Amino acid sequence: MVKIGVLGGYRGTSMINYCAASSGKAKVVAICDNNPEVLERQKKIHDGEDITFYGDFNDFIEHDMDAVVLANYANEHAPFAIRCLKKGLHVFSEVLPCQCMAEAVELIEAAEESGKVYAYGENYCFMPVPREMRRLYKEGRIGEIEYAEGEYIHNCESIWPSITYGERDHWRNRMFATFYCTHSLGPMIHISGLRPVSVVGFEGTKNERRIRSGSFSGQFGIEMVTLENGAILKSIHGDLYTNSIWYAVYGSKGRMEADREAAGVSDTLYLNADRYSGEYSDHPDVGAFDVSEKNDVIRRFGHGGSDYYIMDAFVDKINGVDNADVIDVYEAMDMFIPGLLAYRSVLNGGAPVAVPDLRDPAVRDKYRDDRACCDPKVAKEQLLPSFSKGNPDIPDSVYDEIKRRWEAEKNDGAYVKAAMSQGSLK
Ligand SMILES: NC(=O)c1ccc[n+]([C@@H]2O[C@H](COP(=O)([O-])OP(=O)(O)OC[C@H]3O[C@@H](n4cnc5c(N)ncnc54)[C@H](O)[C@@H]3O)[C@@H](O)[C@H]2O)c1
Repeated sequence: MVKIGVLGGYRGTSMINYCAASSGKAKVVAICDNNPEVLERQKKIHDGEDITFYGDFNDFIEHDMDAVVLANYANEHAPFAIRCLKKGLHVFSEVLPCQCMAEAVELIEAAEESGKVYAYGENYCFMPVPREMRRLYKEGRIGEIEYAEGEYIHNCESIWPSITYGERDHWRNRMFATFYCTHSLGPMIHISGLRPVSVVGFEGTKNERRIRSGSFSGQFGIEMVTLENGAILKSIHGDLYTNSIWYAVYGSKGRMEADREAAGVSDTLYLNADRYSGEYSDHPDVGAFDVSEKNDVIRRFGHGGSDYYIMDAFVDKINGVDNADVIDVYEAMDMFIPGLLAYRSVLNGGAPVAVPDLRDPAVRDKYRDDRACCDPKVAKEQLLPSFSKGNPDIPDSVYDEIKRRWEAEKNDGAYVKAAMSQGSLK
């Protein structure tokens, strides 16, 4: 049984629930959150269980455990992952893997030196449709990828109080438009198994809704990515009014796509393969297929059951299952670096930027001191604005109002609902 510690008590709930459903494969032994309210809530939920609770990561990391789940702030995963790997712990990292190129290099090297499992938690790859798309792609059903699109559009205005708490400097307020790119880009990378070689970035410049919520960035980000075989990917993510999770992959022998889903998960996959075989009307590879999760327990997990599968693969990998479908540290960077560098492209008037392959140690030196990002603690003199045209002035009253709404939500029980909406077991 794999002993797991969880850092971060909001999204971390999903991984805690996985352990409970894992039929003895994994067990949560420690939970850490430096927000006393969050820790208190976890204590209440797990009253009587053999779990130790920590408010300080320095104490938590000393606990007797095999692996750590990092569900802390999205821009702070790399330093915690590196510390855990150096301590000999396996690491499951929530999105994103790091926030700058220097951290990417440090993280890769820590994973290599540790020999431990590093698994990137890009659960959208394991939603019913992208998961089935990968299986079909590997079978060669649509031939070789030529073009693909991925969308992760989430209008978060109504839930912004419950996910930023009125904190001006919360990472969701400070991130740049192309930062949170792996929900849209990741599945296309995982399906194709190919490496990105260059990117052009775009930033949605209308950001009134963002400013109203307290966020500095452009409204949405786009990465146009070229893969090593010449295929082009379009990845769009961020805030448009109507939500969408959607993927389409065009190959040399056909196309597969999801039904566009506004509420969370798509269960239908449209396949149009071998269109010109002369058997179009009754060809088995043409049609709409229900790929919804059939297992009742797994279906109850967030994001169409993907929250279960991604943790299950991590635990299997630790247990020596060689073909467990984990996203390793190199693939994590293939999913993330295009978004990071897309913003450089935006800041440079839309010029293409080469995406380096950090698998090659010789390539790494160029990036060891590249700390450009939107987090002043890490970037220091390389600090980038969160919005390419300069950060908007947002008055304190915006955050006061968000905080007021958050307090009110907590008091009427929406607090729990908000945690659930982050992908916990419903
Ligand atoms: N894959 C998905 O579908 C999905 C969905 C939601 C969130 N997430 C990811 O989960 C992560 C957490 O997001 P969230 O929504 O839970 O909100 P969040 O980032 O606001 O919460 C992080 C939690 O970690 C705690 N924390 C942060 N730094 C800490 C430290 N040094 N020591 C102890 N505790 C610390 C905070 O107190 C907070 O409770 C992010 O990386 C986010 O991108 C992923």
